Amino acid sequence: MGSVSLKIGDETARFKKPTICSSPTNILMLFSVITTNLFALYAFKYAQKPHNHHLLPHHHHHTHKTISLISEQVFFILKEIDSSQKKLSQIETHLLGFESIDLSTPTIPKELKSFLNRHQLPLGKDSKTGITEMVSSVGHSCVKSIDLLSEFMNYNINGVCPDDWNLSQKLILRGCEPLPRRRCLSRIHSLNSKKLNGHCFDLVKGYESRRFLKPRGKNDFLIDEVLALGGNGGIRIGFDIGGGCGTFAARMAEKNVTIVTTTSNMDAHSSEFIAARGLFPLYLSSDHRFPFYENVFDIVHAGDGFGIGDDALEKSKLEFLMFDVDRILRPGGLLWLDNFLCSNEENRRNLTHLIDVFGYKKHKWVVGEKVNGSGKFDVYLSAILQKPIRA
Ligand SMILES: *[C@@H]1O[C@H](CO)[C@@H](O)[C@H](O)[C@H]1NC(C)=O
Ligand SMILES: *[C@@H]1O[C@H](CO)[C@@H](O)[C@H](O)[C@H]1NC(C)=O
Ligand SMILES: *[C@@H]1O[C@H](CO)[C@@H](O)[C@H](O)[C@H]1NC(C)=O
Ligand SMILES: *[C@@H]1O[C@H](CO)[C@@H](O)[C@H](O)[C@H]1NC(C)=O
Repeated sequence: MGSVSLKIGDETARFKKPTICSSPTNILMLFSVITTNLFALYAFKYAQKPHNHHLLPHHHHHTHKTISLISEQVFFILKEIDSSQKKLSQIETHLLGFESIDLSTPTIPKELKSFLNRHQLPLGKDSKTGITEMVSSVGHSCVKSIDLLSEFMNYNINGVCPDDWNLSQKLILRGCEPLPRRRCLSRIHSLNSKKLNGHCFDLVKGYESRRFLKPRGKNDFLIDEVLALGGNGGIRIGFDIGGGCGTFAARMAEKNVTIVTTTSNMDAHSSEFIAARGLFPLYLSSDHRFPFYENVFDIVHAGDGFGIGDDALEKSKLEFLMFDVDRILRPGGLLWLDNFLCSNEENRRNLTHLIDVFGYKKHKWVVGEKVNGSGKFDVYLSAILQKPIRA
């Protein structure tokens, strides 16, 4: 959860890292200096021309050629500088849009201001951590969704929170976790059948009751065969990304393995459903760093496309996710890609290359095709991979 700097009353910006990007003016200054120098060089060379012409007339032609060569280069460099400057100012605008929430804007509700302001520790500096104030954590994408966030923070203090199921979904999908703690009481959502129409909620008649126990096809692996792979040192705790109704966690619980299931409650009460099964629902979108320390899980299970839904992930997004998965998986631990949606061959190849980069051992690797809603073939990958022990 990245932090942003806040423009608060005194205009001081916080969390500014002294990177070259954080001060575009510095770069502009640098460019002006270079430009000035180049002009000086050009002027100097040019000033030499009549002088040379007098003393060494036979060199005239040569010198002229050199000068036109130099002025050509200078022209080229100036053009480069010009386009860089244009790019820079674009970057600057972009950065400014991302970097600050202006708390003096009248449309920002009082509760949001109060949450975003720094809060001094009442007893001064904490001797262990050295901190003197508590700051709020807000993702930079929230700046772009400040209107939604403002709506979210508009409520009666101590009252019942407004019904904002849809609103929080929108925020999450825009990469702005509706993080701010709120001083209102959360509503009671009943597990009504309307919100339990999904594919996986029928635990009696649906496939869910046999999932991980009886395969539908070659892409379905069984819990027992995966556990038998052991992952050097046993499987005690795991993480299920985009775990739908929590069935993976339920089956693993029968094997005394604890699983945390992420769910984003997309159009359904998945979190409540998972909790009602006595399992751990983690309400988290895939835009966030997994809230776990390095090397903690024995197994990571990922279905669909990391729970993003029906869309396969674009290469670099997938890369960011994979690195975070690798981070939380312990050496020797298992990564189970379960009917992982690649959509097409190109995505499948890219995913394969990506996995090769990590040097995982491939215990199982099955590529399959399924007819999707519109009658086309979708490519799926199921694999059991083992994280290597890196020196
Ligand atoms: C949330 O959105 C759904 C449609 O997506 C709509 O039926 C429902 O009324 C909305 N709820 C609220 C409280 O706005
Ligand atoms: C799970 O733990 C319980 C209690 O320790 C034990 O009786 C049971 O045999 C274990 N089940 C498996 C599948 O290991
Ligand atoms: C797959 O990788 C290639 C080469 O890196 C890249 O050009 C292409 O955009 C990638 N495809 C997707 C869907 O990300
Ligand atoms: C089915 O797959 C095709 C090809 O990958 C894709 O263009 C289409 O959007 C998919 N349809 C559905 C409903 O997923």
